[in-house]
Amino acid sequence: MITSVSNFLETGNIMIIPLFQDTKKAPNNTTIGLSRSASITVKSAISSESFEGKEGKTISIWTEECQIILLGMGENNNLDTKKSRDIGAKCFSNLPENLGKNIVIRFTTGWNTEKMASFVEGMILRDYKFDKYQEKIDDEKQNEGWTIVCQTTKRFRENLDLEIKRLSSIATGVHLARDLGNEPANRLYPEEFGIRANNWAIGKENVEVEVWDFSRLKEEGMYGLVEVGKGSIHKPCMVFFRLNPDSDSEKQVPCIVGKGITFDSGGISIKGSAGMDEMKLDMHGSATVFGLFQALYATGYRGRVNGITCMAENMPSAEAYRPGDVIETYSGKTIEVLNTDAEGRNVLADGLWKASELNPSYIIDLATLTGSIVVALGHEATGLFANNDRLSGRINRVGNEVDEICWPMPLLPAFEKQMTSSKIADVRNQGKGRWGGAIQAAGFLKQFVQEREDNDGGKSQIPWAHLDIAGTAGIWGGESNALVGHGATGVLVRTLHRLITKEEENYS
Ligand code: BES
Ligand code: MN
Ligand code: ZN
Repeated sequence: MITSVSNFLETGNIMIIPLFQDTKKAPNNTTIGLSRSASITVKSAISSESFEGKEGKTISIWTEECQIILLGMGENNNLDTKKSRDIGAKCFSNLPENLGKNIVIRFTTGWNTEKMASFVEGMILRDYKFDKYQEKIDDEKQNEGWTIVCQTTKRFRENLDLEIKRLSSIATGVHLARDLGNEPANRLYPEEFGIRANNWAIGKENVEVEVWDFSRLKEEGMYGLVEVGKGSIHKPCMVFFRLNPDSDSEKQVPCIVGKGITFDSGGISIKGSAGMDEMKLDMHGSATVFGLFQALYATGYRGRVNGITCMAENMPSAEAYRPGDVIETYSGKTIEVLNTDAEGRNVLADGLWKASELNPSYIIDLATLTGSIVVALGHEATGLFANNDRLSGRINRVGNEVDEICWPMPLLPAFEKQMTSSKIADVRNQGKGRWGGAIQAAGFLKQFVQEREDNDGGKSQIPWAHLDIAGTAGIWGGESNALVGHGATGVLVRTLHRLITKEEENYS
């Protein structure tokens, strides 16, 4: 999608005129460039009873110049960025494709930069298809992208242009995360993820990618990752992302950790077959990390950031790990495996310990970790667990600002205790019952966040948040998400981008 900002002039193939409720009379500039008769038709349609401007309601008008869509935005006072973004996205998803792909959006009265930008952002985010494995019927037509011209008065143009450019750059990260999430497991396995990360880094001076392969993982003692991944012919790896590695050397910086199970069959504790195909998405935590680095890079962020993705395929085989096994993790702590399907926490154990070694300002992990969080929050919100209220509060606020809800969940000590009460190892990878499964998992992860000296001379854990995205990483049908049609959502790229690029706070 190519976007630009201009004055009220051209009409495009399709002209979208978003209008607020109770617009009695066509605002100034509404009909510039239209013939006299078309102009009269549009003006009278706006004044008529049949167009009320209710949220998302449209009227289509054919004219010789272009197809015109009058789009209701509801009451101006009620329009926030979320609504504007969603209406933009829905409007885009309903656009006819046979009238030409040059779109003009006419923002007349009642708009500000933020709301206009969100509207366009919705269109940009929604402009995504994962159709690379489908035969193209008419190649030329398919490949032709949309152009969007945003028309507004002079005083908004410069800022709107900058803001749309910024949001488009972030969207490249969202779309990359979706691409990775949607890629089937026979095409995207741990090693391939590493290759894509390395390719991405080529030609980017302020970016470093490093891949630790299977033998390196064994050398390092990362048996959380090794044990989960060894049952597959596609061996596990850990991929490190570093942005601006030479900056901020005197400063603590964030480290973002991703669960990257390229396919989760459950392993020996094999899953049922219904919906198992969705488990190609079990690497969306890592997809979000990768997408986040793309978004940070594309927006020219100058600070240092670290990313760690724990990549493995969880398969049953003669070489697979089993229930009852005891794993020695990178931390030195041992895990009693009670269920090989609780694999995400095993790989994250190594990722979190490694992240702690980098002495970060805070650690955030992202993981499609539990079915239990989907029971709790459905597909509407990500589960947010944290050992630090300020970090949690900030993730929650920033998430709300970009409409990716991160709902605070408790790290209840009773569940944590379940996880540390193995009779033969330091921790067990399954709790003692099904209740509170997402909290159990979070309590497990907490064991692998290091402590360090704090300001009072005591010791406390590194600020850490765990985001369980099992319910928000994918749209398979029925769920409501105006920004995504089907499949991977690219969830939390926008939230984390905002968290990192907005001014830093001190959490310790
Ligand atoms: N990847 C799954 C969790 C999941 C479920 C993600 C649904 C997306 C949609 C995870 O590895 C898993 O299997 N978790 C188990 C843990 C249990 C065995 C303790 C679960 O939640 O049932
Ligand atoms: Mn699993
Ligand atoms: Zn999993």
